[in-house]
Order: sequence, then structure tokens, then C-alpha cells
Amino acid sequence: MHVSPLSQLQRRLFAWCMVGVSRVDPQQIQCANCATHDTMAAFKKALLGQLQGRVLEIGPGTGANFIYYPADIQWIGVEPNPFMHSYLQDEAAARGFCGIQLYGDSAAHLPLENESIDAVISTHVLCSVTQLDPVFKEIVRVLKPGGRFIFFEHVGAPEDTWTRTLQNGITPVWKVLFDGCYPNRDTGKALVTAGFTSVDYDQFQLKLPVVGPHIAGVAVK
Ligand SMILES: C[S@@+](CC[C@H](N)C(=O)[O-])C[C@H]1O[C@@H](n2cnc3c(N)ncnc32)[C@H](O)[C@@H]1O
Repeated sequence: MHVSPLSQLQRRLFAWCMVGVSRVDPQQIQCANCATHDTMAAFKKALLGQLQGRVLEIGPGTGANFIYYPADIQWIGVEPNPFMHSYLQDEAAARGFCGIQLYGDSAAHLPLENESIDAVISTHVLCSVTQLDPVFKEIVRVLKPGGRFIFFEHVGAPEDTWTRTLQNGITPVWKVLFDGCYPNRDTGKALVTAGFTSVDYDQFQLKLPVVGPHIAGVAVK
């Protein structure tokens, strides 16, 4: 696929920005109105800290989630921005993950066999994929029966709120600034009809401007 020089520059800049973002201590990112966890770090640890077997992370960026994973999982990543790869590999090595497999594909075309993965992880990625349905289809395809899709995502605020009006208005500019990210996606609703056997998630706010509304949970194949 041809990528223009401007797009290349945007992707390189975005990777560089993500390194800066990953330096923010996730224990300082607070959850509001969440009954179970008070910080993003605590929530992610609960979701990712007990994984086993073959784990696929889509859009891992610079590797912000390695701090949560058990050391003995077999980690596979699919990250289409090549400028993220060296940062991610450094972070994996620093956290003791030596045998990782990293691919440059989109999550809409996973380079993996049917029913070969125990868990698929997505954190702050479903806002950025071009379309949700092809990605969900691929996740369902590669998961083993009973396998879990674990997600932590910012989503559109409820309709008829000021936050949603702001998200809708800012979307054209936001997408350009943040590598195709939609701040107003109804990801939770889309997940419910995506072909999983069950979908269970919490809705809460992170204390962030524009992209505060979040969902996090588990869908089972
Ligand atoms: C906001 S970053 C989040 C990175 C990381 N998951 C985290 O939580 O720090 C969004 C990531 O999704 C990736 N991404 C965008 N479109 C994608 C696609 N179609 N398939 C897989 N990853 C994608 C981007 O390259 C980027 O690394």
C-alpha cells in the first residue's frame, strides 16, 4: 500500500508522541464513577495480569501494556505503524519479553491461523481502526472457542450531552491530529452485535478532556 510522505511524517510524529504519552504514570490517570478500580493502571492490571498462552495485542503502539502482562505468555503484536516498532521492541526487552512476534499488518487482516489465539487485547485502538466490523470479524476468527477479547477503549459520550456535541464537532480535526482517531465512536454498541457469545463491560470516565468516556471489559467467543 502506498503511503504519502506527509502520512509517513504524521505516523513518525505520532509514534514519537506515543513515547511521551507512555511516560505518563498510568497510576496517575484516575477513573471516575467506576465501582471497581480507581486508576487506569489498576483496571488494566486486573484485565491483563492473569493471561495465559498465546496472546495477540492489536495496535500495541510503543508497548505500554508490557508492564501488566505475566512474563510467561507468548506475545504476538500486530502494529501497522512501522515507526512504533523499535520503541516497542526496546520496551519488550526491558520488561523481559524476549521471544515476541511482531507484524506490521492491520487488525483487519490478521496474519494468523483460525482459532489459534487464547486472548486478543485492544487498548485505545478501536477508536482508530478505519472500520470496526472487519476487525471484529478477524478477532472472532483467530480466537479459540471460549477465547477472550479484552478491551479498554475511549468511546463516544451519550447522545445529547455537551461532551458528545464537542466530540462530534471536533472529530474532523481530531482525526488529523491523532492518526485517524474518532473521539465519538459507539464501540460498545458495535461490540454487542459483533458475533461474540457474550460481551461484558464497565462504563466509566477517565479524567481526560474530550476522550474521558470509556468502556473496558471482556467479550467471549
Ligand atoms: C492511541 S494508540 C494506542 C497504543 C497502545 N495500544 C496503548 O494503549 O498505548 C493507537 C494504536 O492503534 C494502532 N492502529 C491504528 N489502526 C490500526 C489497525 N487497523 N490495526 C491495528 N492497529 C491499528 C496505531 O498504529 C497505534 O499504535
